Amino acid sequence: MKKQSRRDASQRKQESDEVELGLDEQSSTVTVHKPVLVAEVLEYLNPKPKKIYLDVTFGAGGHTRAILEKEPQCKVIALDWDAVSLETFGDPLKEEFGDRLRLVWGNFALLYSLVKKEKIPQVDGILADFGTSQMHIFDRPGFSFSRDSALDMRMSPAHQQVTAAHVLNTSCEAKLYGIFAQLGEERYARQIAKAIVLQRRREPFQTTIQLAELVKTIIPAYSRKTNPATKVFQALRLYVNRELANISAFLPAAFTQLKKEGRLVCISFHSLEDRLVKDYFNEQENKGTLQVLTPKVIVAGDEEVKNNPSARSAKLRAAQKII
Ligand SMILES: C[S@@+](CC[C@H](N)C(=O)[O-])C[C@H]1O[C@@H](n2cnc3c(N)ncnc32)[C@H](O)[C@@H]1O
Repeated sequence: MKKQSRRDASQRKQESDEVELGLDEQSSTVTVHKPVLVAEVLEYLNPKPKKIYLDVTFGAGGHTRAILEKEPQCKVIALDWDAVSLETFGDPLKEEFGDRLRLVWGNFALLYSLVKKEKIPQVDGILADFGTSQMHIFDRPGFSFSRDSALDMRMSPAHQQVTAAHVLNTSCEAKLYGIFAQLGEERYARQIAKAIVLQRRREPFQTTIQLAELVKTIIPAYSRKTNPATKVFQALRLYVNRELANISAFLPAAFTQLKKEGRLVCISFHSLEDRLVKDYFNEQENKGTLQVLTPKVIVAGDEEVKNNPSARSAKLRAAQKII
């Protein structure tokens, strides 16, 4: 993938702040997601010859590639619900690695039924790198408050009907308040919800800039180092894509899908996501079904964060199935 142009530094910083996902070099046509914590993923997944690994968040395939390259005799089954990413980045990887790589389109929240339908065997390790990819942020409508686009925010339009605009234009004030307060931990959630309900009577929400501009009028400029719309956009994105519910459904299914001694490695970018993983691991450890391999959460070092700001909020936890 040719990288033809670099983003202006200040815009890059802003976009990295807005999504806690950071940025990558941007080609004029396509963004390529830069994977985070690659060495740590390999350390905890510990790929071995003749074993099979499941990457449920293929994205641009950075982690899948690292696994395949690290252990030349292993196989990877890679899943993503974003058909465009799977096609753009999966097909070339498939050409390179042949039958060592299998690509599957699907939602990891539906892992139980997906593995049956696709006849996916139990595996030796599972990787989940939650959240959005940089392709979503930079190339798809709705995710970025610094680029005017339709307020969509769906990671997989084929799996989802409800857009961010629909949520803003149809939800009652109390519901909007709940989304911003709980998922965004936004201090001004009440005022923002109220302003949205007033504003949409005059003109329904259609674009990212409409929402970003409204939020800017409510949050005092002095109270934020980052763009004032950061938390509102994050909350809406989590809500539209049911990200927390998907993780909750995924974790027990992943556990079932692992062979004995198989490992589950999860990377989260949001404290609520990380809490789901941490609580699930602790609960299972207390039942004696798995062993937590990361008593202290793993985060990126300064050097990685400097080179890839998306790593700044990444938190990795790993566990091994023991029954
Ligand atoms: C942070 S990116 C992963 C990047 C990837 N590890 C790489 O190296 O390029 C997250 C990916 O997970 C996918 N995703 C998010 N929720 C999903 C779900 N419920 N089911 C399947 N894929 C999902 C997104 O479409 C996105 O491509």
